[in-house]
Amino acid sequence: MRATVISEPGGPDVLAWEEVPDPRPAAGQVVIDVKASAVNRADLLQRQGFYPPPKGASDIPGLECSGMISEIGPGVEGFAVGDHVCALLAGGGYAERVAVPWQQVMPVPEGVPLDVAASLPEVACTVWSNVFMTARLRKGETLLVHGGASGIGTLAIQLAKAYGSHVLVTAGSDEKVRRCLDLGADEGVNYREEDFAEKFKNRADVILDIIGAKYLRKNVAALATGGRLVVIGMQGGTVGELDLGRLMGKRASVSAAGLRVRPVEEKGVICRGVVQNVWPLISAGAIKPVVYAEVPMSDAAQAHRMLESGEHIGKILLVR
Ligand SMILES: NC(=O)c1ccc[n+]([C@@H]2O[C@H](COP(=O)([O-])OP(=O)(O)OC[C@H]3O[C@@H](n4cnc5c(N)ncnc54)[C@H](OP(=O)(O)O)[C@@H]3O)[C@@H](O)[C@H]2O)c1
Repeated sequence: MRATVISEPGGPDVLAWEEVPDPRPAAGQVVIDVKASAVNRADLLQRQGFYPPPKGASDIPGLECSGMISEIGPGVEGFAVGDHVCALLAGGGYAERVAVPWQQVMPVPEGVPLDVAASLPEVACTVWSNVFMTARLRKGETLLVHGGASGIGTLAIQLAKAYGSHVLVTAGSDEKVRRCLDLGADEGVNYREEDFAEKFKNRADVILDIIGAKYLRKNVAALATGGRLVVIGMQGGTVGELDLGRLMGKRASVSAAGLRVRPVEEKGVICRGVVQNVWPLISAGAIKPVVYAEVPMSDAAQAHRMLESGEHIGKILLVR
């Protein structure tokens, strides 16, 4: 098959579309003929040599895909050759074929085109596991989403609204804030011009944070009593100072989690939760996948440049 390989750590031009050996399905795995994959911020770090794949994972980039099952290994439950599916991957999505444990495979939500389905696994699993399973966002509570126009943000806004929450966002331009409001957000801050911690002080029951250290103090200020801060990105650094007195005064909590390194069984629980709780909302039209661009699978460099430019809103797909 052909796949995108990282010839050496570096800029987008180190991504090369090459012949590589076909994946074979191990026990408990299916092989998917890939229709589309999607670009994630983590892929940029992997390309630069800062985010190696977990032990045993493919070193081909790509954390999600959609396509058709073409082979099944022993011990797979609930899937058959020919099924149209999407999947959460530990790697290997930028390719014509990929092998993946069946627990990380999900049916394509009804009504979603096969290519568009590749935009969903990472964002749906990340938002469902962090905002709903870990932080237990409840109806009527307020969620603050940083980077509301990101792939993660566009799904988080819509899912939280569908579950009856009040949604606050930050984004990097007035235009992006406006797009977040169009997606259902109730209030937004252009973080380049306004201080979100002032505007949203003591109001957020849950914060979905992608910035990390740089926002730690401000996030604690924005938390309501009993608030839950979940950190899923560290674009603003990893080491910050946490005022435990302020946290204690609010009876608040901080957690952090990555999806890629979780054991297969945990990913399976998350995927089943997504199929049960998120897919019906997509099929009913209450949540719309936000796809910014479709780029040919063989030109991952272009897709990486697009993501790095920050011009996008939602997801960038690699399609065949
Ligand atoms: N832990 C996990 O399991 C997990 C899984 C998936 C993703 N993530 C993380 O989630 C984040 C989003 O991922 P993605 O793939 O959706 O990437 P993406 O679309 O490129 O989003 C990055 C976002 O960061 C925003 N941003 C940058 N500086 C900001 C600031 N100071 N304040 C608020 N927002 C800021 C950008 O907003 P503007 O463009 O508006 O400036 C942009 O929307 C990344 O940090 C990624 O690593 C974590």
